[in-house]
Amino acid sequence: MSISEHRVWGDERGMLVALESMIDVPFDIKRIFYIYGTHPELYRGNHSHYKTKQYLIAVNGTCKVTLDDGENKITYDLNTPNCGLLQEPLVWGVMHDFSPDCVLLVLASEHYDDADYIRSYSEFIQEVGK
Ligand code: TYD
Repeated sequence: MSISEHRVWGDERGMLVALESMIDVPFDIKRIFYIYGTHPELYRGNHSHYKTKQYLIAVNGTCKVTLDDGENKITYDLNTPNCGLLQEPLVWGVMHDFSPDCVLLVLASEHYDDADYIRSYSEFIQEVGK
């Protein structure tokens, strides 16, 4: 659970950030999805994964992500497109406080599989205790 800052290639044409699997992002990227059009009072996520690693980047706007490993809960501010937050497996994640213009890009280590989700917090606490 940590925020990484990435190099920005900028010139008079604008900015560019490049991320490569296993170099800038610590897994092979099998899937991407992005969240937008949400509202400050709504939250998303509220689950954990058995296997999937995720790398979250607010490519536009801002949001907060609270990660909880069962012992420690830390809230991160995603407020710049050149920083990414790693969410490891068996870490409970909640995305919240979205700015209206937020586009949250998520890079994932696995294809979508509903069976990889832990949606009950009490089951999550049981799993981390195993
Ligand atoms: P959901 O898990 O509710 O999103 P969040 O984690 O932000 O709360 O996902 C919403 C819908 O999108 C759900 O019906 C499943 C679908 N979905 C996919 O088909 N593929 C994906 O990679 C993801 C993340 C979701």
